Amino acid sequence: MEFLKTLDSRRCVHSYRRAPPDERKIQAILDAALLAPSAGDLQAYRVVVVENPETKAALVDAAHGQHFIAEAPVVLVFLADPERSSTKYGERGRLLFSLQDATLAAAYAQLSAADLGLGTCWVGAFDDGAVASAINAPIGLRPIAIIPLGEAAEWPDRPPRRLASELVVGERF
Ligand SMILES: Cc1cc2nc3c(=O)[nH]c(=O)nc-3n(C[C@H](O)[C@H](O)[C@H](O)COP(=O)(O)O)c2cc1C
Repeated sequence: MEFLKTLDSRRCVHSYRRAPPDERKIQAILDAALLAPSAGDLQAYRVVVVENPETKAALVDAAHGQHFIAEAPVVLVFLADPERSSTKYGERGRLLFSLQDATLAAAYAQLSAADLGLGTCWVGAFDDGAVASAINAPIGLRPIAIIPLGEAAEWPDRPPRRLASELVVGERF
C-alpha cells in the first residue's frame, strides 16, 4: 500500500525551492533509475545530471521557455541510445526499445524522488537539437525527458484522470 501511496503522491511540480536536496537522495534516485528494466538488459540510455545555471538556462530555452526547469537545483536529462539497442534488436531497438528503456529509467527516477518527498516534472516539450546542444550530447543520443528535481515550493493538486471504463478493455476491442 505504501507503494500505491507513493504513486499517488507524485505530481508534476512547477515550483521548486533553491536549496539542493541531500546528495544521498540524488544518488538514491539515480540508483533507482538504473534498476529499471530494459530490452535485453542493454540499458540503452544515458542520464545527464545538470546543476550549472548556464546549462539550465539553455535547457529552458530548448524547452520553449519553461522557466521552472531552471528553478530546480538539479535537472536530469534522459536520452535514448538508439544505436546501442539496434545492435541487438535492429529497427525495433532503434525506434522503440531504446525510447522505452530511457522512459522507464526516467519514470523510476520520478517515482523514487516522490518516495523521498522530492518534486519532479516530466518535461517533454522541447527542441531535441537544442537540448542535445545544451548538454553537449554525442551524436546519436536522443533526448527523451527533462526532469527538474528538488524540494517542491508548491505541490499541485492531483489532476483528474480518465475513468477506467474509458481506458480498460476486457479481453478484446
Ligand atoms: C510525455 C509527457 C510530456 C510532458 N511534457 C510536459 C511539459 O513539457 N511541460 C510540463 O509542464 N509538463 C509536462 N508533462 C507533465 C504532464 O502535464 C503531467 O504529468 C500531467 O498533467 C498529469 O499531472 P501529474 O504528473 O501531476 O499527475 C508531460 C508529461 C508526459 C508524460
